Parts: sequence; structure tokens; C-alpha cells
Amino acid sequence: MSKRILVVDDERMITTTLSTLIQTVLKHNVTAFNDPVLALESEELERQQVDLIISDFMMPGMNGLEFFKNVKKKSPNTVSILLTGYADKENAIKSINEVGLYYYLEKPWDNGSLIKIVQNGLDKKELSDSLAQKYQELRESNREIARLYELLKMDFQQEVDNVKSLIISLANVIEAKDKYTDGHTRRVGIISKEIALKMGMSLEKANHVEMAGIIHDIGKVGVSEMILNKTGKLTEEEFEIMKRHTIVGETICKPLNCLQGCLDAVRHHHEKLNGTGYPDGLSGDEITLESRILAVADIFDALYSQRPYRDKLSLEKARQILLEDTERGCLDKVVVKTFFDLLDKDQLTDIIGH
Ligand SMILES: [Fe+2]
Repeated sequence: MSKRILVVDDERMITTTLSTLIQTVLKHNVTAFNDPVLALESEELERQQVDLIISDFMMPGMNGLEFFKNVKKKSPNTVSILLTGYADKENAIKSINEVGLYYYLEKPWDNGSLIKIVQNGLDKKELSDSLAQKYQELRESNREIARLYELLKMDFQQEVDNVKSLIISLANVIEAKDKYTDGHTRRVGIISKEIALKMGMSLEKANHVEMAGIIHDIGKVGVSEMILNKTGKLTEEEFEIMKRHTIVGETICKPLNCLQGCLDAVRHHHEKLNGTGYPDGLSGDEITLESRILAVADIFDALYSQRPYRDKLSLEKARQILLEDTERGCLDKVVVKTFFDLLDKDQLTDIIGH
């Protein structure tokens, strides 16, 4: 492809010779200037369309080094070749880095060498132009990747939120089946989260505990309304069916990535420290803190709500039963104490009422 070259020298003879030589041998477009100021103002330089410039050093008004400094400001990628007389050679060498000279040639030049240097300079420019273009393309594709990644992240978060909403809706359906538990799961979720945070759990874990509180009884979807709402004591068989809600709940939540942090508490919220709970009869340290917290919140809210088999208990009575359960070795005493602290400081009044 034809390149654009400027030759700048105050001697018309030199610009004519150079132009003719380059046009003849290399077949590129050459424009000659006998005044460096006019060359600087040229349209092709303004538009950064000049591939290479050969300039004389000694010129009236502006020497070659100053000229190239100005060129660099306008068109940083243009290749610059300086023509010097022998006397100016030292100055030219010193300034090579300063103005980013590609080459300097002594007058009188050898035509063959000059053509070779010009051709090499043009090759270098072509390479750096193509590298710059590749770099630009890479930056653009990186920007595009970053944009797509953000979109994907948003989509993913939306999907996670949708799944969570769906699960919460399902938990609400269960609650609607069990007419005595209106608002129970929401309260258990919030109470559990408050206890978790007060015990120093990270916000991320506390959020899992809250979610576990909301969905802990989701397995009751498999329990008939007759059993859920029975006012009398459950038969052994009915109790066995009721106990399965912990395992069914875990099975429902297991395939969902966003609920992995809740699975343990969903399965084990009816375990007791002394090993008398269900479904696995875990004891002591086998029961995670998340499950211990959920157990306290769940039992409290059940005591402090209307139930098929009894009226809502007073706050004092509910607290007393929790203490008794703790003394019997069912509940974690630190969790219960933390919960009582929250109650004493009225930090749960908005959730449980008075
Ligand atoms: Fe439960």
C-alpha cells in the first residue's frame, strides 16, 4: 500500500532529489517542503496521515530537532529521519532519544542506504500501527467481556432472587396450610438472624440463618392439614410423619445452589443438645450453631403464638419454658442467653410485639 512521506529541507535541490528518488524506487507519495513551519501546518500531518518524514537539521527559523519535537506532538507515530551535516552529528546523536528519532543520516547520503532505511522505517511503522490496532481491539473486546460479565452477574443475581422468592412463596403456602402459624417463619427468620449477628456471625452467614428460618418448615408440604392442625396429641404414626418434614425440607432445598448455606439448619432445627431430637438424634457439637439458633427462635415463636392445642403464652412463661429446656440439656444456653439479652434490650419488640 502506498505510504505518505514528507521531505523537509530549505534547499529545493535536496527536496527534489529525495522526492524523485523515493517516488521512483519505492512508489510512495512524497510531499516536499522547504519550510519546516509550513510542513508542520500541512493537512496530512494534522490528520496524522504521515508515515515518515525526512528532515534536514540546519534550517532557518527552526532546526530539525525542534521540528521533530513539534511533529511528535501532532503525530506521535510518524517515523522521523534526520539529515545532518558532519558538524551537526554530535547534536543529532544527543537528541535521538529526546525527539524519538528513528535514524539520522549524514549528508551526502548513499541512495541505496537511504532507501533501505526508509523502507525499514515504514515496515516498523506498519508493525507498530498493526500492534496498536490489535491492542485497541483487545481493549475493546475486554471492555465488551467486562460488560457481558456484569450483565451475566446481574442476570445470575436476578435468578437467585427469583429462586429465593419462589421458595419463600412456597414457605408461605405451607404457612397458609397451617392456620396457626401466620407470620411464624418470617419471625423465626428475623429472630434467628438477630441472634446470629449478636453472637458475632458474619452477615453472610446470618443471612443464611435468616433464610433457613423462613424456609425451615417447608417440608411440611408433605404433611396433611389434618395432622398440621390437629388439636389433640399426635399419634405415634402421625408424629413420625410430622418428623419427616425436616428431611423433606432438606430434599426440597438441596438442588438449589443459593440455599446450600441453609440445608443443615433446615434438617436439624429439631435436634436437641442431649441427643433426644430428630431426625438424626445428633447431640452436642454435632449440632451446628446455625441449627441451635434456629431451634431457639422456632420454639420461642411457637410458645409465643396461638397454637391448635393452646393459647399464646405470656412472654414470661415462654422465657421460663426456654430456660427449662436449656436446663434439661435441649437448648444451647449461650444462644438462649443471647436471645434473652435481645429481648431485655427491646431489640425484638418490632418483630414479636409486646
Ligand atoms: Fe419444624
